[in-house]
Amino acid sequence: MVVVSSSSSSFLLLTALVVLVSWQAFASDPSPLQDFCVADMYSPVRVNGFACKNPMDVNADDFFKAAMLDTPRNTMGSKVGSNVTLVSAVQLPGLNTLGISIARIDYAPLGQNPPHTHPRATEILIVLEGTLCVGFVTSNPDNKLFSKVLNKGDVFVFPVGLIHFQFNHDPYKPAVAIVALSSQNPGTITIANAVFGSKPPISDDVLAKAFQVEKETIDWLQAQFWEDNNY
Ligand SMILES: *[C@@H]1O[C@H](CO)[C@@H](O)[C@H](O)[C@H]1NC(C)=O
Repeated sequence: MVVVSSSSSSFLLLTALVVLVSWQAFASDPSPLQDFCVADMYSPVRVNGFACKNPMDVNADDFFKAAMLDTPRNTMGSKVGSNVTLVSAVQLPGLNTLGISIARIDYAPLGQNPPHTHPRATEILIVLEGTLCVGFVTSNPDNKLFSKVLNKGDVFVFPVGLIHFQFNHDPYKPAVAIVALSSQNPGTITIANAVFGSKPPISDDVLAKAFQVEKETIDWLQAQFWEDNNY
């Protein structure tokens, strides 16, 4: 008969807890099991991410994107006044399975990157030009807003999955930020677009009750143009 002393059984319990907690703490893409797995965009194979290109056919260009993030983007065509240039595994196949991506965001004077979430990524942002008011809101029941005004060189982090935004409150100067995201494919849910611009639309009965307004207000919102946002 095996007698487990109470100290060794509590050690076992502790170890099991630590393993469980550290396992649950993974908040990025699954770890690679090889040096790289450059995305093969032509493969018919469906896996979590993209299938790997034959390593014999991989070259330096698979890990490279020329002059992607140095040029200012046009924000004139955007209703919200921002333009996001994302470099994820789709644009840079070498990012497949690596759990990281990068983007440049240009903000018009008074432009914003509207409230949105990335279901698969934490985001870290650095301001390159101008001033940004940024923030995120915690989940239920608190829905607490954490916000801050950032100047050039300042860094802010938006925890995975939480609704966040950036707003350039300067009426004259544009702003620029670079962000890094902890997923090769962070995904973006722009709240207003998803709620009021879904195709087909969510019933106005549902939305009127959810937002505690008249159905006419919902119909008006649903009739607006919700610009495509691929980021
Ligand atoms: C973003 O900028 C690019 C390049 O300047 C432009 O082609 C594109 O139309 C812009 N997108 C929006 C939404 O304004």
